[in-house]
Amino acid sequence: MVMGAVGWDELAQQVSACTACELHRSRTQTVLGVGDHDARWMIVGEAPGAEEDRRGEPFVGRSGQLLDAMLLALGLARSDVYIANILKCRPPENRNPTPEEAVCCAPYLLRQMKLVNPGIILAVGLVAAQRLLDTKLPLARLRGQLHSYGDNDTPLVVTYHPAYLLRAPRQKKQAWQDLLLARSVLTDE
Ligand code: URA
Repeated sequence: MVMGAVGWDELAQQVSACTACELHRSRTQTVLGVGDHDARWMIVGEAPGAEEDRRGEPFVGRSGQLLDAMLLALGLARSDVYIANILKCRPPENRNPTPEEAVCCAPYLLRQMKLVNPGIILAVGLVAAQRLLDTKLPLARLRGQLHSYGDNDTPLVVTYHPAYLLRAPRQKKQAWQDLLLARSVLTDE
């Protein structure tokens, strides 16, 4: 799959017709991403859940509501950022993406990254963090510091997935530190 010069319309078309892995059999629809195509912030999550699969938009369920609140605390509306996932299709029963599925989907996210060209990438949760940084380190070792991603060395910050924060609200304080770290990159621009 060569995504070289593909623009948004063609990308959306290719993703919606994708049959590269078995997830196309069980999806209701693909979930490409949402938000400002020229955003400074790019948020990358794991994969669509049931609600996202139904509505065709990332982070619209309970996790999404918390993500929106986290963004709002930074003074950002959902429409100010670009939100995408490692996978564009929902894994059945919300299981974790397999490495093969993530590899199949990677060119799409890579193209989104190139098109948006964000000033900061926020990887939410272990799956996104490990895939983007190509590491097996645990989240606790990845959050709280500045990483960089891709050919352009785009700054990348890892934080907890909102679904985890719903279960472990005490970690919100640390998540806030991560968000402030991410913001500090942009205010230095
Ligand atoms: N969790 C994710 O990682 N992404 C979504 O789009 C929804 C829930």
